[in-house]
Amino acid sequence: MQIVQQLDPLRSAVDALKASGTLALVPTMGALHEGHLTLVRAARAAATHVAVSIFVNPRQFGPKEDLARYPRQLERDCELLEAEGVGLAWAPDVTAMYPEDYATSVSVTGVSDGLCGDMRPGHFDGVATVVCKLFNQVRPDAALFGEKDWQQLAVIRRMARDLDLVLPRTEAILGVPTVRESDGLALSSRNAYLSAGDRKAAVALPDGMKAAIAAIRAGTPLAAATAKLKADLIAAGFSSVDYAEVRDAVSIAPVAALGEAPARLFVAARIGGTRLIDNMPV
Ligand code: PAF
Repeated sequence: MQIVQQLDPLRSAVDALKASGTLALVPTMGALHEGHLTLVRAARAAATHVAVSIFVNPRQFGPKEDLARYPRQLERDCELLEAEGVGLAWAPDVTAMYPEDYATSVSVTGVSDGLCGDMRPGHFDGVATVVCKLFNQVRPDAALFGEKDWQQLAVIRRMARDLDLVLPRTEAILGVPTVRESDGLALSSRNAYLSAGDRKAAVALPDGMKAAIAAIRAGTPLAAATAKLKADLIAAGFSSVDYAEVRDAVSIAPVAALGEAPARLFVAARIGGTRLIDNMPV
């Protein structure tokens, strides 16, 4: 596996891989876990070669967020990727991605509104900007993202469609189902911050979501089901709930009642200072 940290060698490495087949990209911020490796395996099934980017993108962190303490473990990440048969690890430093006079931002309205877009102002501009750059840098035939960050995936697809991106085409931006621990908690690099007690209590998140979805399917109004979910999370030890909402799965617009269009339950809640997010189909 080639590990590349500057743009010029990246271009040569990408050219060499693309000369002998298709290329799939898995964008990550490192601190790889089984969820990322599942994306890598899906990428291997989608293309001849796999590239993984590892970049903790400062533009998607707010001033009071965990950029400084976000886990960084490049050496271990590269060992994991090598074992999965990845051909290229693209691990630029911040100045390779954003030179001193960097001035451009990609902003996707609509799908970025609400949920994490409201709770983390500027977050999706940072995500869309870096993913647009990663697409242009790596020119992948396909790109794979985890469905745990469902709103992020919707933002990236809309960006690719609106900007007529060629590589990857919008249809080749693939979502991979969330990987969960045996008790149902979605895998996340941030789970590493949880104390043993908080980790145990965190199972209330997927459990509460499943119960809320069962209640909605049995006829409970959305507002009542999400209000109960919030109360249950606080009772289980969560310190706050940023949101618990049912929204349209594609436009991410709020829905007042279930209709024909696919809808999902989205939740972000904090436990012991750690913010966990999850989403499930309703
Ligand atoms: O989901 C992530 O890890 C990041 O938001 C991404 C897509 C790699 C962009 O920095």
